[in-house]
Amino acid sequence: MNDLNLPIHIGIIMDGNGRWATKRGLKRSEGHKEGAKTLKKLCIYLNKRGIKYLSLYAFSTENFKREENEVNYLMDLFIQLFKTEFNTLKKENIKVIFSGRKEPLKDEVWLSMQTITNETKDNTGCILNICLNYGSQFEIADTTKRICQMYINKEISLDTIDPVFIQKNLYQDLPPLDLVIRTGGEMRLSNFMLFQASYAELFFTNTYFPDFNEKELEEILTTFLKRNRRFGGN
Ligand code: IPE
Ligand code: IPE
Ligand code: MG
Repeated sequence: MNDLNLPIHIGIIMDGNGRWATKRGLKRSEGHKEGAKTLKKLCIYLNKRGIKYLSLYAFSTENFKREENEVNYLMDLFIQLFKTEFNTLKKENIKVIFSGRKEPLKDEVWLSMQTITNETKDNTGCILNICLNYGSQFEIADTTKRICQMYINKEISLDTIDPVFIQKNLYQDLPPLDLVIRTGGEMRLSNFMLFQASYAELFFTNTYFPDFNEKELEEILTTFLKRNRRFGGN
């Protein structure tokens, strides 16, 4: 495969954990636990594969609508991942950053996010952007507020505001998404990186996230390389 044309930035909407578990007569939380294993495996694989940026949709602002039990389970899982399980990612030279809002995350979750960010800040491998308590519409609103404040402070003029400037002022300054994969069979973006995905190639698979693996990922990459990306040209 011609690695030169591999995507620079991949986004994954990790969906289907609940259905994976229900299908097996297990609690939804078991699906999230399995999903976390898949997440770690994929990060390590894509880092080795030379992918520079990986954005993972872990928890949306809308996911707070779920039952308290499930939300609490997920928050505890995140703490466990960032405090201990991500040690392997740290050793693999992966740099962890986050996109999302602070409120209403519990302090312990927020602290565990800061810890892993600090511990991996000097790593030079894949930049793993975890979208947690993330919603693209909130991101655009928060960015708009920040830019308005700069204008009020007379730090910028109206002419400063163009697409590149907006991109640089999103939660994280990342290159555009080249490829977005959604597992779990739904064909929608569910408020995931709408600005960044403007020209991304979209792939939807019926595989539930816990079952998603390197082999299927490679098949998607092979198809990605055959797509004709025109960016509005001809
Ligand atoms: C994705 O799996 C994980 C999160 C949204 C946190 P789901 O929990 O949405 O699983 P399904 O879609 O109900 O199967
Ligand atoms: C999208 O999955 C959010 C994450 C994967 C974190 P959802 O399961 O929340 O999306 P909908 O509700 O099916 O659109
Ligand atoms: Mg879902």
